[in-house]
Amino acid sequence: MCYAIPGKVSAIEDNIVTVDYFGEKKRAYNEFDNLKIGDYIYAQGGFVIKTIPPEEANSILAVWRETFFELQEHDLRLSRIDIEKSGVEKRLTLILDKAIEERPLRKDDFLYLLNLRDSDSKNLLYKTANFLRQKYLDNSCCVHGIIELSNYCARNCYYCGISVHNSKIPRYRMDKTEILSTVESAVEKYGFKALVLQSGEDPAFDTDFFCDIIREIKSRHAVLIFISFGETGLKSLEKLYEAGARGLLLRFETSNPDLYRKLHPGYELHTRIEHINYARELGYLIITGGLTGIPGQTNRDILNDILLTKELGAEMYSFGPFIPHPDTPLGTHPITTSENILKTIAVSRIVDPQNAKILVTTAFETIDKEARLSGLMSGANSVMLNVTPENLREKYSIYPNRAHNEESLQIQIDDTLSLLYSLGRAPTDLGVSGNRQV
Ligand code: 5AD
Repeated sequence: MCYAIPGKVSAIEDNIVTVDYFGEKKRAYNEFDNLKIGDYIYAQGGFVIKTIPPEEANSILAVWRETFFELQEHDLRLSRIDIEKSGVEKRLTLILDKAIEERPLRKDDFLYLLNLRDSDSKNLLYKTANFLRQKYLDNSCCVHGIIELSNYCARNCYYCGISVHNSKIPRYRMDKTEILSTVESAVEKYGFKALVLQSGEDPAFDTDFFCDIIREIKSRHAVLIFISFGETGLKSLEKLYEAGARGLLLRFETSNPDLYRKLHPGYELHTRIEHINYARELGYLIITGGLTGIPGQTNRDILNDILLTKELGAEMYSFGPFIPHPDTPLGTHPITTSENILKTIAVSRIVDPQNAKILVTTAFETIDKEARLSGLMSGANSVMLNVTPENLREKYSIYPNRAHNEESLQIQIDDTLSLLYSLGRAPTDLGVSGNRQV
Protein backbone atom coordinates (compact mmCIF):
# COMPACT_ATOMS: atom_id res chain seq x y z
CA MET A 1 0.00 0.00 0.00
CA CYS A 2 1.24 3.52 -0.71
CA TYR A 3 1.38 6.49 1.60
CA ALA A 4 -0.02 9.91 0.74
CA ILE A 5 3.41 11.34 1.24
CA PRO A 6 6.04 11.71 -1.44
CA GLY A 7 8.10 8.61 -2.09
CA LYS A 8 11.48 8.46 -3.85
CA VAL A 9 11.85 6.21 -6.88
CA SER A 10 14.65 3.79 -6.05
CA ALA A 11 14.36 1.30 -8.91
CA ILE A 12 12.62 1.05 -12.29
CA GLU A 13 11.94 -2.19 -14.08
CA ASP A 14 9.76 -1.83 -17.18
CA ASN A 15 6.50 -0.34 -15.93
CA ILE A 16 7.08 -1.16 -12.28
CA VAL A 17 8.90 1.23 -9.97
CA THR A 18 10.11 0.71 -6.42
CA VAL A 19 9.24 3.60 -4.16
CA ASP A 20 11.04 4.37 -0.93
CA TYR A 21 9.16 5.87 2.04
CA PHE A 22 11.70 6.54 4.81
CA GLY A 23 13.36 3.23 4.02
CA GLU A 24 10.13 1.27 3.55
CA LYS A 25 9.84 -0.04 -0.01
CA LYS A 26 6.59 -0.30 -1.99
CA ARG A 27 6.01 -1.08 -5.63
CA ALA A 28 3.85 0.92 -8.04
CA TYR A 29 2.82 0.76 -11.67
CA ASN A 30 4.14 3.67 -13.71
CA GLU A 31 2.46 5.30 -16.71
CA PHE A 32 4.74 8.38 -16.90
CA ASP A 33 7.26 8.40 -19.77
CA ASN A 34 10.19 10.26 -18.27
CA LEU A 35 10.31 8.94 -14.73
CA LYS A 36 13.88 8.48 -13.37
CA ILE A 37 15.49 6.93 -10.33
CA GLY A 38 15.71 9.62 -7.63
CA ASP A 39 12.46 11.39 -8.68
CA TYR A 40 9.87 12.09 -6.02
CA ILE A 41 6.35 10.91 -6.71
CA TYR A 42 2.93 10.37 -5.22
CA ALA A 43 1.71 6.81 -5.72
CA GLN A 44 -1.83 5.71 -5.07
CA GLY A 45 -3.44 2.29 -5.11
CA GLY A 46 -0.30 0.93 -6.72
CA PHE A 47 -0.18 3.58 -9.49
CA VAL A 48 2.22 6.50 -9.81
CA ILE A 49 -0.13 9.48 -10.05
CA LYS A 50 2.16 12.50 -9.91
CA THR A 51 5.79 13.61 -9.91
CA ILE A 52 6.80 16.31 -7.43
CA PRO A 53 9.72 18.77 -7.44
CA PRO A 54 12.39 17.67 -4.91
CA GLU A 55 12.17 20.90 -2.84
CA GLU A 56 8.43 20.45 -2.36
CA ALA A 57 8.85 16.74 -1.55
CA ASN A 58 11.59 17.42 0.97
CA SER A 59 9.61 20.08 2.81
CA ILE A 60 6.61 17.73 3.15
CA LEU A 61 8.85 14.84 4.23
CA ALA A 62 10.53 17.02 6.85
CA VAL A 63 7.13 17.53 8.52
CA TRP A 64 6.44 13.80 8.37
CA ARG A 65 9.76 12.24 9.30
CA GLU A 66 9.24 11.88 13.06
CA THR A 67 5.50 11.37 12.93
CA PHE A 68 5.87 8.51 10.45
CA PHE A 69 7.86 6.35 12.87
CA GLU A 70 5.91 7.45 15.96
CA LEU A 71 2.65 6.35 14.35
CA GLN A 72 4.11 2.99 13.33
CA GLU A 73 5.34 2.31 16.85
CA HIS A 74 2.04 3.31 18.39
CA ASP A 75 0.16 0.98 16.04
CA LEU A 76 2.56 -1.84 16.85
CA ARG A 77 1.94 -1.36 20.59
CA LEU A 78 -1.83 -1.46 20.09
CA SER A 79 -1.70 -4.59 17.94
CA ARG A 80 -0.15 -7.03 20.42
CA ILE A 81 -2.05 -10.16 21.45
CA ASP A 82 -1.48 -13.10 23.71
CA ILE A 83 -3.59 -16.03 22.60
CA GLU A 84 -2.13 -18.41 25.19
CA LYS A 85 -3.54 -16.42 28.12
CA SER A 86 -6.96 -15.82 26.67
CA GLY A 87 -8.91 -18.59 28.45
CA VAL A 88 -11.17 -19.38 25.48
CA GLU A 89 -12.15 -22.72 23.87
CA LYS A 90 -9.22 -24.80 22.66
CA ARG A 91 -10.66 -25.03 19.15
CA LEU A 92 -10.59 -21.24 18.83
CA THR A 93 -6.95 -20.97 19.88
CA LEU A 94 -6.02 -23.73 17.44
CA ILE A 95 -7.76 -21.96 14.56
CA LEU A 96 -6.28 -18.57 15.42
CA ASP A 97 -2.83 -20.09 15.81
CA LYS A 98 -3.19 -21.48 12.31
CA ALA A 99 -4.25 -18.05 11.05
CA ILE A 100 -1.27 -16.35 12.67
CA GLU A 101 1.14 -18.92 11.31
CA GLU A 102 -0.55 -18.71 7.91
CA ARG A 103 -1.32 -22.39 7.82
CA PRO A 104 -4.41 -23.10 5.70
CA LEU A 105 -7.79 -22.89 7.44
CA ARG A 106 -10.71 -25.10 6.46
CA LYS A 107 -14.12 -23.77 5.50
CA ASP A 108 -15.41 -25.23 8.77
CA ASP A 109 -12.87 -23.18 10.70
CA PHE A 110 -14.01 -19.94 9.10
CA LEU A 111 -17.62 -20.86 9.76
CA TYR A 112 -16.79 -21.56 13.40
CA LEU A 113 -15.34 -18.03 13.61
CA LEU A 114 -18.42 -16.44 12.05
CA ASN A 115 -20.61 -18.39 14.49
CA LEU A 116 -18.75 -17.24 17.62
CA ARG A 117 -21.05 -15.80 20.29
CA ASP A 118 -19.30 -15.13 23.59
CA SER A 119 -17.49 -11.81 24.00
CA ASP A 120 -14.06 -13.14 24.99
CA SER A 121 -13.94 -15.34 21.92
CA LYS A 122 -15.10 -12.59 19.58
CA ASN A 123 -12.59 -10.15 21.09
CA LEU A 124 -9.79 -12.60 20.52
CA LEU A 125 -10.88 -13.02 16.90
CA TYR A 126 -10.90 -9.23 16.40
CA LYS A 127 -7.47 -8.87 18.02
CA THR A 128 -6.01 -11.61 15.88
CA ALA A 129 -7.34 -9.93 12.73
CA ASN A 130 -5.84 -6.63 13.86
CA PHE A 131 -2.54 -8.33 14.58
CA LEU A 132 -2.48 -9.77 11.04
CA ARG A 133 -3.36 -6.38 9.53
CA GLN A 134 -0.43 -4.80 11.35
CA LYS A 135 1.94 -7.64 10.58
CA TYR A 136 1.40 -7.60 6.82
CA LEU A 137 0.17 -4.15 5.92
CA ASP A 138 1.59 -2.01 8.66
CA ASN A 139 -0.23 1.15 9.69
CA SER A 140 -1.35 2.52 6.35
CA CYS A 141 -5.06 3.28 6.00
CA CYS A 142 -6.85 4.17 2.77
CA VAL A 143 -9.03 7.24 2.88
CA HIS A 144 -10.84 7.43 -0.45
CA GLY A 145 -13.46 10.05 -1.21
CA ILE A 146 -16.77 9.24 -2.89
CA ILE A 147 -18.91 11.57 -4.99
CA GLU A 148 -22.50 10.53 -5.73
CA LEU A 149 -23.30 11.95 -9.15
CA SER A 150 -26.96 10.97 -9.55
CA ASN A 151 -29.65 9.20 -7.54
CA TYR A 152 -31.70 8.24 -10.61
CA CYS A 153 -31.61 4.47 -10.92
CA ALA A 154 -33.29 2.05 -13.29
CA ARG A 155 -32.67 -1.00 -11.09
CA ASN A 156 -35.15 -2.78 -8.87
CA CYS A 157 -32.93 -3.87 -5.94
CA TYR A 158 -35.38 -4.80 -3.18
CA TYR A 159 -33.28 -3.23 -0.43
CA CYS A 160 -32.17 0.03 -1.99
CA GLY A 161 -33.73 3.41 -1.25
CA ILE A 162 -32.78 4.91 -4.63
CA SER A 163 -34.16 1.97 -6.64
CA VAL A 164 -37.28 2.22 -8.79
CA HIS A 165 -39.31 1.08 -5.76
CA ASN A 166 -38.97 4.47 -4.12
CA SER A 167 -41.28 7.03 -5.68
CA LYS A 168 -40.96 9.39 -2.71
CA ILE A 169 -37.41 10.75 -2.91
CA PRO A 170 -36.61 13.80 -4.99
CA ARG A 171 -34.14 12.82 -7.71
CA TYR A 172 -31.03 14.79 -8.69
CA ARG A 173 -28.34 14.62 -11.31
CA MET A 174 -25.12 16.65 -11.13
CA ASP A 175 -24.02 18.33 -14.35
CA LYS A 176 -20.51 18.36 -15.77
CA THR A 177 -19.60 21.71 -14.21
CA GLU A 178 -20.79 20.64 -10.76
CA ILE A 179 -18.93 17.34 -10.98
CA LEU A 180 -15.69 18.97 -12.07
CA SER A 181 -15.83 21.63 -9.39
CA THR A 182 -16.57 19.02 -6.71
CA VAL A 183 -13.58 16.99 -7.88
CA GLU A 184 -11.40 20.09 -8.02
CA SER A 185 -12.14 21.03 -4.43
CA ALA A 186 -11.74 17.42 -3.23
CA VAL A 187 -8.31 17.10 -4.84
CA GLU A 188 -6.84 20.59 -4.75
CA LYS A 189 -8.38 21.96 -1.56
CA TYR A 190 -8.84 18.88 0.62
CA GLY A 191 -5.97 16.75 -0.70
CA PHE A 192 -7.76 13.55 -1.83
CA LYS A 193 -5.63 11.31 -4.00
CA ALA A 194 -8.24 8.64 -4.77
CA LEU A 195 -11.89 9.33 -5.62
CA VAL A 196 -14.82 7.06 -6.35
CA LEU A 197 -17.37 8.46 -8.79
CA GLN A 198 -20.66 6.72 -8.04
CA SER A 199 -24.09 6.91 -9.62
CA GLY A 200 -27.35 5.01 -9.74
CA GLU A 201 -27.86 3.30 -13.13
CA ASP A 202 -29.11 6.56 -14.59
CA PRO A 203 -30.33 6.21 -18.20
CA ALA A 204 -29.50 9.87 -18.84
CA PHE A 205 -25.78 9.32 -18.20
CA ASP A 206 -24.01 7.48 -21.00
CA THR A 207 -20.50 6.10 -21.32
CA ASP A 208 -19.34 8.97 -23.50
CA PHE A 209 -20.42 11.45 -20.84
CA PHE A 210 -18.51 9.57 -18.13
CA CYS A 211 -15.44 9.21 -20.38
CA ASP A 212 -15.47 12.92 -21.09
CA ILE A 213 -15.64 13.70 -17.36
CA ILE A 214 -12.83 11.26 -16.53
CA ARG A 215 -10.58 12.60 -19.30
CA GLU A 216 -11.21 16.12 -18.11
CA ILE A 217 -10.41 15.16 -14.49
CA LYS A 218 -7.24 13.32 -15.48
CA SER A 219 -6.03 16.28 -17.56
CA ARG A 220 -6.50 18.65 -14.62
CA HIS A 221 -5.69 16.65 -11.45
CA ALA A 222 -3.41 13.93 -10.12
CA VAL A 223 -5.97 11.54 -8.72
CA LEU A 224 -6.79 7.84 -8.92
CA ILE A 225 -10.34 7.44 -10.26
CA PHE A 226 -12.63 4.55 -9.34
CA ILE A 227 -15.91 4.23 -11.19
CA SER A 228 -19.08 2.90 -9.59
CA PHE A 229 -21.84 3.22 -12.16
CA GLY A 230 -23.37 -0.24 -11.73
CA GLU A 231 -23.44 -2.66 -14.68
CA THR A 232 -22.24 -0.46 -17.50
CA GLY A 233 -21.58 -3.29 -19.98
CA LEU A 234 -18.19 -4.72 -20.84
CA LYS A 235 -17.48 -2.43 -23.79
CA SER A 236 -18.05 0.58 -21.55
CA LEU A 237 -15.55 -0.78 -19.03
CA GLU A 238 -12.96 -0.76 -21.84
CA LYS A 239 -13.79 2.80 -22.84
CA LEU A 240 -13.77 4.05 -19.26
CA TYR A 241 -10.37 2.47 -18.66
CA GLU A 242 -9.05 4.10 -21.81
CA ALA A 243 -10.40 7.43 -20.55
CA GLY A 244 -8.33 7.03 -17.38
CA ALA A 245 -10.43 5.18 -14.78
CA ARG A 246 -8.26 2.69 -12.88
CA GLY A 247 -10.62 1.24 -10.30
CA LEU A 248 -14.09 -0.31 -10.22
CA LEU A 249 -16.36 -0.38 -7.19
CA LEU A 250 -19.08 -2.91 -7.85
CA ARG A 251 -20.45 -5.10 -5.10
CA PHE A 252 -21.83 -8.48 -6.12
CA GLU A 253 -24.20 -7.96 -3.14
CA THR A 254 -24.58 -11.68 -2.37
CA SER A 255 -22.72 -14.74 -3.66
CA ASN A 256 -25.88 -16.84 -3.37
CA PRO A 257 -27.46 -16.87 -6.87
CA ASP A 258 -30.96 -17.70 -5.57
CA LEU A 259 -30.86 -14.92 -3.03
CA TYR A 260 -29.50 -12.60 -5.70
CA ARG A 261 -32.44 -13.43 -7.97
CA LYS A 262 -34.94 -12.81 -5.17
CA LEU A 263 -33.48 -9.41 -4.38
CA HIS A 264 -33.04 -8.38 -8.02
CA PRO A 265 -35.87 -9.95 -10.05
CA GLY A 266 -34.92 -10.28 -13.72
CA TYR A 267 -31.19 -9.94 -13.04
CA GLU A 268 -28.50 -12.58 -12.59
CA LEU A 269 -25.46 -12.76 -10.33
CA HIS A 270 -23.25 -14.07 -13.13
CA THR A 271 -23.63 -10.82 -15.12
CA ARG A 272 -22.24 -8.89 -12.19
CA ILE A 273 -19.40 -11.33 -11.68
CA GLU A 274 -18.60 -11.14 -15.37
CA HIS A 275 -18.26 -7.34 -15.08
CA ILE A 276 -15.93 -7.63 -12.12
CA ASN A 277 -13.78 -10.29 -13.77
CA TYR A 278 -13.55 -8.40 -17.03
CA ALA A 279 -12.64 -5.16 -15.24
CA ARG A 280 -9.87 -6.93 -13.32
CA GLU A 281 -8.50 -8.39 -16.56
CA LEU A 282 -8.47 -4.92 -18.08
CA GLY A 283 -6.32 -3.74 -15.18
CA TYR A 284 -8.87 -2.09 -12.90
CA LEU A 285 -8.37 -2.28 -9.14
CA ILE A 286 -11.46 -3.97 -7.77
CA ILE A 287 -13.52 -2.99 -4.75
CA THR A 288 -16.30 -5.47 -4.12
CA GLY A 289 -18.23 -7.28 -1.44
CA GLY A 290 -21.79 -7.58 -0.27
CA LEU A 291 -24.61 -6.85 2.09
CA THR A 292 -24.69 -8.52 5.47
CA GLY A 293 -27.99 -9.34 7.16
CA ILE A 294 -30.27 -9.60 4.17
CA PRO A 295 -33.37 -11.79 4.62
CA GLY A 296 -32.66 -15.48 4.08
CA GLN A 297 -28.85 -15.10 4.33
CA THR A 298 -26.89 -17.60 6.46
CA ASN A 299 -23.37 -17.41 7.89
CA ARG A 300 -22.37 -19.91 5.23
CA ASP A 301 -23.55 -17.39 2.61
CA ILE A 302 -21.51 -14.68 4.31
CA LEU A 303 -18.44 -16.89 4.29
CA ASN A 304 -19.00 -17.58 0.59
CA ASP A 305 -19.25 -13.80 0.05
CA ILE A 306 -15.85 -13.31 1.69
CA LEU A 307 -14.29 -16.16 -0.27
CA LEU A 308 -15.77 -14.86 -3.53
CA THR A 309 -14.35 -11.41 -2.84
CA LYS A 310 -10.91 -12.96 -2.58
CA GLU A 311 -11.45 -15.13 -5.65
CA LEU A 312 -12.37 -12.03 -7.65
CA GLY A 313 -8.96 -10.56 -6.83
CA ALA A 314 -10.43 -7.69 -4.87
CA GLU A 315 -8.05 -5.01 -3.83
CA MET A 316 -10.59 -3.75 -1.30
CA TYR A 317 -13.32 -5.63 0.59
CA SER A 318 -16.56 -3.74 1.16
CA PHE A 319 -19.07 -5.36 3.53
CA GLY A 320 -21.78 -3.44 5.29
CA PRO A 321 -25.05 -4.15 7.05
CA PHE A 322 -28.25 -4.12 5.08
CA ILE A 323 -30.29 -1.28 6.62
CA PRO A 324 -34.00 -1.43 5.83
CA HIS A 325 -35.35 1.58 3.96
CA PRO A 326 -39.04 2.20 4.70
CA ASP A 327 -39.89 2.94 1.05
CA THR A 328 -38.63 -0.39 -0.31
CA PRO A 329 -40.07 -3.92 -0.32
CA LEU A 330 -37.73 -4.94 2.57
CA GLY A 331 -38.62 -1.89 4.65
CA THR A 332 -39.61 -3.75 7.82
CA HIS A 333 -36.83 -6.32 8.02
CA PRO A 334 -34.69 -6.19 11.22
CA ILE A 335 -31.07 -4.89 11.12
CA THR A 336 -28.16 -7.22 11.78
CA THR A 337 -25.81 -6.63 14.74
CA SER A 338 -22.48 -4.81 14.85
CA GLU A 339 -20.84 -8.05 15.99
CA ASN A 340 -21.86 -9.73 12.75
CA ILE A 341 -20.17 -6.98 10.74
CA LEU A 342 -17.04 -7.07 12.91
CA LYS A 343 -16.85 -10.84 12.49
CA THR A 344 -17.19 -10.41 8.71
CA ILE A 345 -14.33 -7.87 8.74
CA ALA A 346 -12.14 -10.04 10.95
CA VAL A 347 -12.73 -13.21 8.93
CA SER A 348 -12.03 -11.27 5.71
CA ARG A 349 -8.67 -10.30 7.19
CA ILE A 350 -7.90 -13.91 8.07
CA VAL A 351 -8.94 -15.08 4.59
CA ASP A 352 -6.71 -12.50 2.88
CA PRO A 353 -4.19 -11.34 5.49
CA GLN A 354 -1.48 -10.00 3.25
CA ASN A 355 -3.30 -8.02 0.61
CA ALA A 356 -6.78 -6.98 1.62
CA LYS A 357 -7.74 -3.41 2.13
CA ILE A 358 -10.86 -3.77 4.22
CA LEU A 359 -13.36 -0.97 4.44
CA VAL A 360 -15.29 0.24 7.45
CA THR A 361 -18.44 1.15 5.52
CA THR A 362 -20.66 4.15 6.16
CA ALA A 363 -23.58 1.72 6.57
CA PHE A 364 -21.72 0.11 9.48
CA GLU A 365 -21.12 3.55 10.97
CA THR A 366 -24.82 4.27 10.57
CA ILE A 367 -25.82 1.35 12.81
CA ASP A 368 -22.98 1.84 15.30
CA LYS A 369 -21.30 5.11 16.32
CA GLU A 370 -18.12 3.26 17.33
CA ALA A 371 -17.89 1.32 14.08
CA ARG A 372 -14.85 3.08 12.71
CA LEU A 373 -12.80 2.53 15.83
CA SER A 374 -13.92 -1.06 16.36
CA GLY A 375 -13.65 -1.92 12.64
CA LEU A 376 -10.11 -0.52 12.39
CA MET A 377 -9.19 -2.55 15.47
CA SER A 378 -10.66 -5.76 13.96
CA GLY A 379 -8.73 -6.04 10.72
CA ALA A 380 -10.02 -3.09 8.67
CA ASN A 381 -7.70 -0.49 7.17
CA SER A 382 -9.82 1.69 4.89
CA VAL A 383 -12.52 4.32 5.10
CA MET A 384 -14.40 6.32 2.50
CA LEU A 385 -15.45 9.92 3.10
CA ASN A 386 -18.49 11.47 1.50
CA VAL A 387 -17.37 14.21 -0.85
CA THR A 388 -20.83 14.76 -2.42
CA PRO A 389 -22.00 18.40 -2.07
CA GLU A 390 -23.82 18.69 1.27
CA ASN A 391 -27.15 19.77 -0.21
CA LEU A 392 -27.39 16.53 -2.24
CA ARG A 393 -26.31 13.94 0.31
CA GLU A 394 -29.69 13.51 1.94
CA LYS A 395 -31.18 12.61 -1.45
CA TYR A 396 -28.70 9.78 -2.01
CA SER A 397 -30.67 7.81 0.54
CA ILE A 398 -29.78 4.19 -0.26
CA TYR A 399 -30.71 3.66 3.41
CA PRO A 400 -32.08 6.07 6.01
CA ASN A 401 -30.14 8.31 8.44
CA ARG A 402 -26.78 7.78 6.79
CA ALA A 403 -23.83 8.64 9.05
CA HIS A 404 -21.91 11.88 8.29
CA ASN A 405 -24.65 13.29 6.03
CA GLU A 406 -24.73 16.48 8.08
CA GLU A 407 -20.96 16.88 8.48
CA SER A 408 -18.93 19.20 6.30
CA LEU A 409 -16.04 17.59 4.47
CA GLN A 410 -13.57 19.45 6.67
CA ILE A 411 -15.16 18.01 9.83
CA GLN A 412 -15.14 14.50 8.33
CA ILE A 413 -11.46 14.85 7.45
CA ASP A 414 -10.48 16.28 10.85
CA ASP A 415 -12.36 13.54 12.71
CA THR A 416 -10.91 10.81 10.51
CA LEU A 417 -7.35 12.04 10.87
CA SER A 418 -7.58 12.43 14.63
CA LEU A 419 -9.01 8.91 14.98
CA LEU A 420 -6.34 7.48 12.68
CA TYR A 421 -3.51 9.23 14.50
CA SER A 422 -4.90 8.12 17.88
CA LEU A 423 -4.59 4.52 16.61
CA GLY A 424 -1.15 5.03 15.08
CA ARG A 425 -2.45 4.83 11.52
CA ALA A 426 -1.24 6.86 8.55
CA PRO A 427 -3.75 8.00 5.91
CA THR A 428 -2.73 6.84 2.45
CA ASP A 429 -5.03 8.70 0.12
CA LEU A 430 -5.39 11.97 1.89
CA GLY A 431 -2.32 14.01 1.16
CA VAL A 432 -1.36 16.03 4.16
CA SER A 433 -0.63 19.35 2.55
CA GLY A 434 2.20 21.56 3.77
CA ASN A 435 -0.06 23.71 5.93
CA ARG A 436 -1.97 20.94 7.68
CA GLN A 437 -0.49 19.85 10.99
CA VAL A 438 -0.09 16.13 11.60
N1 5AD B 1 -28.60 -0.90 3.27
C1 5AD B 1 -27.25 -0.98 3.16
N2 5AD B 1 -26.60 -0.86 1.99
C2 5AD B 1 -27.33 -0.65 0.87
N3 5AD B 1 -26.97 -0.53 -0.41
C3 5AD B 1 -28.09 -0.33 -1.13
N4 5AD B 1 -29.17 -0.33 -0.33
C4 5AD B 1 -28.73 -0.55 0.93
C5 5AD B 1 -29.36 -0.68 2.19
N5 5AD B 1 -30.69 -0.58 2.32
C6 5AD B 1 -25.60 -0.67 -0.90
C7 5AD B 1 -25.51 -1.75 -1.97
C8 5AD B 1 -24.89 -1.03 -3.15
C9 5AD B 1 -24.26 0.18 -2.51
C10 5AD B 1 -24.07 1.34 -3.43
O1 5AD B 1 -25.17 0.52 -1.50
O2 5AD B 1 -24.68 -2.81 -1.52
O3 5AD B 1 -23.93 -1.79 -3.84
